[in-house]
Amino acid sequence: MTLEEVKEIDSTYVMPTYGRMQIAFERGEGARLYDLQGRDYIDFGSGIGVNSVGYGNQRLSKVLADQTHKLLHTSNLYLIPQQALLAKKLVELSGYDMNVFFANSGAEANEGMIKLARKYGEVNFSKKRYKIITLASSFHGRTLATLKATGQESYHRFFSPFPDGFVIAQSLQDVYAKIDDETCAVMIELIQGEGGIYALPKEEVQKLEKHLRNKEILLMIDEVQSGAYRSGEFLASHLYGISPDVIALAKGIGGGVPIGAVMSKHKDLFQAGDHGSTFGGNFLSTSASQCVLEILEEEKASGALQERIELFDHKLEECLRDSQKFIKKVGVGLMVGLEARDAQIQREVINQALESGVIVLRAGKNIVRFLPPLTISREEILEGFERFRKVIV
Ligand SMILES: Cc1ncc(COP(=O)(O)O)c(C=O)c1O
Repeated sequence: MTLEEVKEIDSTYVMPTYGRMQIAFERGEGARLYDLQGRDYIDFGSGIGVNSVGYGNQRLSKVLADQTHKLLHTSNLYLIPQQALLAKKLVELSGYDMNVFFANSGAEANEGMIKLARKYGEVNFSKKRYKIITLASSFHGRTLATLKATGQESYHRFFSPFPDGFVIAQSLQDVYAKIDDETCAVMIELIQGEGGIYALPKEEVQKLEKHLRNKEILLMIDEVQSGAYRSGEFLASHLYGISPDVIALAKGIGGGVPIGAVMSKHKDLFQAGDHGSTFGGNFLSTSASQCVLEILEEEKASGALQERIELFDHKLEECLRDSQKFIKKVGVGLMVGLEARDAQIQREVINQALESGVIVLRAGKNIVRFLPPLTISREEILEGFERFRKVIV
């Protein structure tokens, strides 16, 4: 198919919910994507933090191919060995005493987390607690409940009325003022992604954790973007030295196969019939995720992930030093960004970078965001920044 044909069919038949760049990719290799015309791009976006092991990964392809020959799906009416093994793996990597529910996306994992909090507030207190506090510049998803949990007002236009019981705090300090005797949980991203690659201050998070524990309020961490080694650790919660009650994961744990997970310390809260998903945790997604996590675990253990993080950081420093377009570097691990002087510069840099053969993302009002595959090679990093520098210096 030619690009013109794709454009024509897409504009006729697909709902225009995305402000799409008019480009279509055909295949990928490592951290490199090829478009329909055969032009190559270094991908510093990995499908918004999804393609954690890059493109064309042979180990992942083999696992997927083998699994498609055996079984893709049976439903959750029956035991699923791959699902059980993936849950074990996630719990072991987390180091927390938890169990897992599987969903298909970040929003769906967060919905599960919200339902867990509501049941916790219902069964544990004589007066029901149902309020969930979230932060002003957060992003938690596009379903009605996760949209309402999302603190950015711009996402709320058109879609009211929303489910009740979400309270927005303007900052971590403001959370304390928002807590009352109906609060069941506080739900936060430790490193806000869509909101602008903002890492919450560690001491303040730790202080809040203690406070919530004393008040028997759940600390729920949305690690949909920050999880699966994106921060350099398996969970950003590890970097922060906290022990959350509930964690939501998605994106990078599937390496491109849709999967979400809710991990909870409250292991008996959900009982049969309380929650479910037709596709959640099926053979295909859980076999893929096991393989992705094995690869990433090895990358971490060998020190290769840390080397990439350091090289990336060094290249971002150079960009900051040599370009007038940016104010500062933000983020953690390979969830990083450059704060542009204004929103117009942000837009121009992203568009021109694409033209020059490197994919970067936007975040917040003026952040140019980088979420490269966690397996990106040294050469790919260097080449990507060579192309990027042409745009910014
Ligand atoms: C922190 C966070 N939570 C939730 C979501 C929603 O995930 P999904 O688009 O898979 O529903 C996102 C997506 O960007 C996210 O970054």
